[in-house]
Amino acid sequence: MDWGMENRMGRMFSPASGNTVMLAVDHGYFMGPTRSLEDARATIAPLLPHADALALTRGILRRCVPPTASTPIVLRVSGGVTVLKEDLSDEHITTSMREALRLNASAVAMSVFVGAPHEHESLVHLGELVDAGEDAGMPVMAITAVGKELEKRDARYLALACRVSAELGAHLVKTYYCDDFAKVVEGCPVPLVVAGGPKLDSDRAALELARRAIDEGAHGIDMGRNIWQSDHPVAMLKALRAIVHEQASVDDALSIVGEEGGATAPSAARPRSATPRARAPSR
Ligand code: R5P
Repeated sequence: MDWGMENRMGRMFSPASGNTVMLAVDHGYFMGPTRSLEDARATIAPLLPHADALALTRGILRRCVPPTASTPIVLRVSGGVTVLKEDLSDEHITTSMREALRLNASAVAMSVFVGAPHEHESLVHLGELVDAGEDAGMPVMAITAVGKELEKRDARYLALACRVSAELGAHLVKTYYCDDFAKVVEGCPVPLVVAGGPKLDSDRAALELARRAIDEGAHGIDMGRNIWQSDHPVAMLKALRAIVHEQASVDDALSIVGEEGGATAPSAARPRSATPRARAPSR
């Protein structure tokens, strides 16, 4: 890997754990002012110091994030369709590599729509973006199965979508947790991070999703709604960090939400283990 590319990857992934906690706030690019993200600046500000990377569009970056921020930026560069359309797969590249470099991004991200009407175009766009990324030393993150494609969230489909993304040159892939997730990991030779999807019933459910994903080989999370739609977003982000970087158990992580969020978490009274479970750093 070229120095610039490796340096950018290294900014996003902790050298100690080999993992990353990305905060996703790019939803407005096709969903508009999503609940709890209406005022993006207010949502992002308290969370920013606790994220290893921030995933968003150039519009929200320029208007809602101070340029003094040192958090690595994962810049979404695809779009062109909204939830008002039946088919979400007709996305194109909407932000140039030159713009990503100007914004000092650490990676660019685009959606791929495997199995959707515009599968072909989205995969060709991924190949072209990887070419541009290799030229610029910019990692490319492929995002599998957003929006209505979520209905296809099973290991067979996600393994295919992730592998195809890696074959076309993506340097990392964002996907979804599913049963048999280890099979998705096994078939994908680049790091995988998992999204959270729509808000789950409880903070515990989101922490369990993250715990299982890391245990089965994910290199981190790129999560949005289950953080900023939680009643305790900052505490939730810290709890996820404990899972991703310190191998905390779900109960231990949930107690962070209880302590920091001021909530009465079911396990808040339970003692936290003195030392997190050890885990060798990995890529
Ligand atoms: C889709 O809107 C984006 O790719 C999101 O960044 C992704 O779905 C992660 O956010 P969430 O955890 O809310 O699903």
